[in-house]
Amino acid sequence: MAIMNQSIPELESYNEADLERAFAALQDEVRRESNELRSIEAVEQFHLRWLGRKQGRLNLIGEAWRRMAPAESMKPLGIRFNELKKMLISEIEVAKAKAILGPIAEGLPSEEQANLVTFAKRRAGLSPIDITLPGTVRAPGIPHPLLKTMNEIVAVFHHLGYSTALGPQVESDFYNFEALNFPPNHPARDTQDTLLLAGQQAKPSRDRLLMRTHTSPVQIRSMIAQAPPIRIVVPGKVHRNDAADATHSPVFHQVEGLCVDTNITFSDLKGTLDHAMKALFGSSVKTRFFPSFFPFTEPSADVQISCIFCSGAGCRRCKHSGWIELLGCGMVDPAVFASVTEARRKLDPADDAYNPEKITGFAFGMGVERIAMIQHGISEIGHFYSGDMRFLEQFA
Ligand code: DAH
Repeated sequence: MAIMNQSIPELESYNEADLERAFAALQDEVRRESNELRSIEAVEQFHLRWLGRKQGRLNLIGEAWRRMAPAESMKPLGIRFNELKKMLISEIEVAKAKAILGPIAEGLPSEEQANLVTFAKRRAGLSPIDITLPGTVRAPGIPHPLLKTMNEIVAVFHHLGYSTALGPQVESDFYNFEALNFPPNHPARDTQDTLLLAGQQAKPSRDRLLMRTHTSPVQIRSMIAQAPPIRIVVPGKVHRNDAADATHSPVFHQVEGLCVDTNITFSDLKGTLDHAMKALFGSSVKTRFFPSFFPFTEPSADVQISCIFCSGAGCRRCKHSGWIELLGCGMVDPAVFASVTEARRKLDPADDAYNPEKITGFAFGMGVERIAMIQHGISEIGHFYSGDMRFLEQFA
């Protein structure tokens, strides 16, 4: 083959200047030849002529020049041959791309030519980036379904003039239990077992820290900080020693509510919660109030809504009763006001802001998971915490 008979250029010496000149000449040769390439076949010939494994020109010249090279020139020679090889590879890529494009690219502005070359390289399997493929679609984030429901609940009360209050998840026994009329050793504490922080035996029991079991302690914090009127909602995370099952999780979320003012009655409580349930579940929903017990409210009630799945006719979800139990509520127990007054009097001995003869109030608390599960017909609480995109994407 003709390509085998190429002459090997002479190298005058191995000094810097001669090397420079010799390699510049080789680069010129490469450029001149590659500019002439018009077909894929010609490019392949060119490839073989220069980069052929045994008889390739690069190899032959390399062997010849290295044979006579003094030891200290091996490195600069190697570097230059590597550069030449890189240049050859890129010339071949571009030539191949141009050959594929053929006359299409002729006369186009250079920017468009470059685009076409990129495109053609891709067609030739030369570029790792395929500009013809659709781009990576990155889904914008959405609020987690639990947060969404929590925000919905809070928004309903914001429209009624309530503001948001927050409190710590690590809470003292005083705020979580004692001030809410759960005396030490009271059986009502059994339903709200939780984690206690270690190493606190030396403290009086009311100062010992625990993971709060409900958002109700924020009622106490808010009343100690602020005289009536109070209208607050308290969204937040709570903790209980409950075994996880389809509807329970040891960590879950609640929204608490508190309204204290002059002349607040049970009718206000009923009207407020009836409105909130209709706002959350639809205006056809009915509510009913069942007697219940909470240490911090008297009287206390559980609120039920007419089953949104069967409109009250009775189905599996409402256990064929037509009603779904949703939240606890009641009129603030005077014992709670007494705890608040005791704490406020440490700051102002004459404080009488929470005198139950002058003011009354109602409170309520609801589980966010439970409400979200009913809203969306979710049967497993665990879905909320799994991070499974197939679940979460349904709320996008
Ligand atoms: N804290 C109660 C619980 O976690 C829920 C509750 C019931 C809150 C009645 C209230 C209320 O404010 O009045 O079980």
